[in-house]
Amino acid sequence: MSKQSLAENFNPLNISLVVAMSINGVIGSDNQLPWHLADDLKFFKALTTGHTVLMGRKTFDSIGKALPNRQNLVLTRQPDLTLPGAICCANLPEAIQIARRAQETDLFVIGGAEIYRLALPFVHTFYMTRVWVEIPDSEGLVSFPPYNTEEWQETKRLNFSANAQNDYAFDIFTFQRKTKPIEWMEN
Ligand SMILES: NC(=O)c1ccc[n+]([C@@H]2O[C@H](COP(=O)([O-])OP(=O)(O)OC[C@H]3O[C@@H](n4cnc5c(N)ncnc54)[C@H](OP(=O)(O)O)[C@@H]3O)[C@@H](O)[C@H]2O)c1
Repeated sequence: MSKQSLAENFNPLNISLVVAMSINGVIGSDNQLPWHLADDLKFFKALTTGHTVLMGRKTFDSIGKALPNRQNLVLTRQPDLTLPGAICCANLPEAIQIARRAQETDLFVIGGAEIYRLALPFVHTFYMTRVWVEIPDSEGLVSFPPYNTEEWQETKRLNFSANAQNDYAFDIFTFQRKTKPIEWMEN
């Protein structure tokens, strides 16, 4: 292993997942968020600014542009795709390698469902906004993938009320994985 890849492997990279989901696990509807929660957006901005965010191509399309003041990584299977302000990655190991090579301390996996499913085994910290609404089943809904709640220890919870800026009441939970996540080692 070269000196460079040794440094990349031993540079601790905390991989976090950030999601907002309804009581019944819905995260999106027709490639949009099903709510407007200004205080959750503020939390997300404060958490991720200055770091690297990783998202699926559909989530990038739904946001419509790269998130400012963050390194934006976008997973896509389209080899020739270029997106303004973002680095396109063919797979998860490539994205993790880019974050490590940039000496990043925190990589935030910000959705959508396909990317959450892919990244979950590698996640150390799970920021879950629980939106206290049940979204009725309909076409175009996207849900958070099934996961084992027993693997996660709640370490923090913040409460927010519904008001003019927040469509619904919500809580932001922080969970830490109880056991070590899978580490991605390059060779
Ligand atoms: N509530 C929340 O916190 C939250 C957060 C983020 C997103 N969302 C919502 O989630 C929905 C989008 O989620 P989604 O699951 O439909 O899409 P997504 O995960 O955002 O993106 C899926 C795309 O990622 C690429 N991809 C997936 N697996 C890959 C792999 N193994 N290797 C390389 N590329 C891969 C493919 O892009 P190509 O088609 O280009 O190949 C695929 O079409 C939207 O409604 C959005 O608003 C909600």
